[in-house]
Amino acid sequence: MDVRIDFLTRTGHLSTDWRQEFILLSDTLGVSMLVESVNNHKASGETESTVLGPFYIANAPHYANGVNICLDGKGAPVWVHGRVTNARGEPIAGAMLDVWQANEDGFYDVQQKGVQPNMNLRGVFTSDAEGRYFFRSAYPRFYPIPYDGTVGEMLNALDRNPNRPAHLHFIVSAPGYEKVTTHIFTPDCPWLKDDAVFGVKESLIADFKDVDDPRQAETLGMPNPFKTVEWNSVLARAS
Ligand code: BEZ
Ligand code: FE
Repeated sequence: MDVRIDFLTRTGHLSTDWRQEFILLSDTLGVSMLVESVNNHKASGETESTVLGPFYIANAPHYANGVNICLDGKGAPVWVHGRVTNARGEPIAGAMLDVWQANEDGFYDVQQKGVQPNMNLRGVFTSDAEGRYFFRSAYPRFYPIPYDGTVGEMLNALDRNPNRPAHLHFIVSAPGYEKVTTHIFTPDCPWLKDDAVFGVKESLIADFKDVDDPRQAETLGMPNPFKTVEWNSVLARAS
């Protein structure tokens, strides 16, 4: 069989309900980001989108603001907060922020069943009357995308690395607005300039600050010291 046909056939055979090797191939060839950017062009100031990835779960628990989604307490604690607004800066109340991320070792809960608690580092938050949301989490680490299949062969053949820079995933949605599927990236990750799926956009690199202030930690219910990141989401009106 022609090697290209063989490659595509094996990519198809690897695809199951929980492993989509063709989507991973599209991601690593940059096709997903290209399609995503063409389909989700944003006006200046609106939150930019990026890839969804395979680790999203649709039925994550809904939490009140302030909850800690790091169920096993592993990793450097982070206070994540911000506002959801429209392009005029007006708050959007009742926006849903669906969040998921890898842990300090670079694994999602679904990759470590029996090691991490179910639904670790994921949850859905709702913005309050001022458009604010806030939650506690843990600082994520970079991780390799699954590279034990044909996508790994392709990366190897091209001498490419399989890593994604550390990030938190968000899907932000509100009635009357375009849903945005996006990430925030940590600014100090060595792979920020070499994302295996080309998902990094400058506007999505967030400013994580180190806080060493026992009083502030106590007020927020955080251990001291901790990290904090403010990330505001600006939604476009649905057309
Ligand atoms: C992710 O960020 O979860 C991801 C995105 C694309 C491919 C693999 C993983
Ligand atoms: Fe991810």
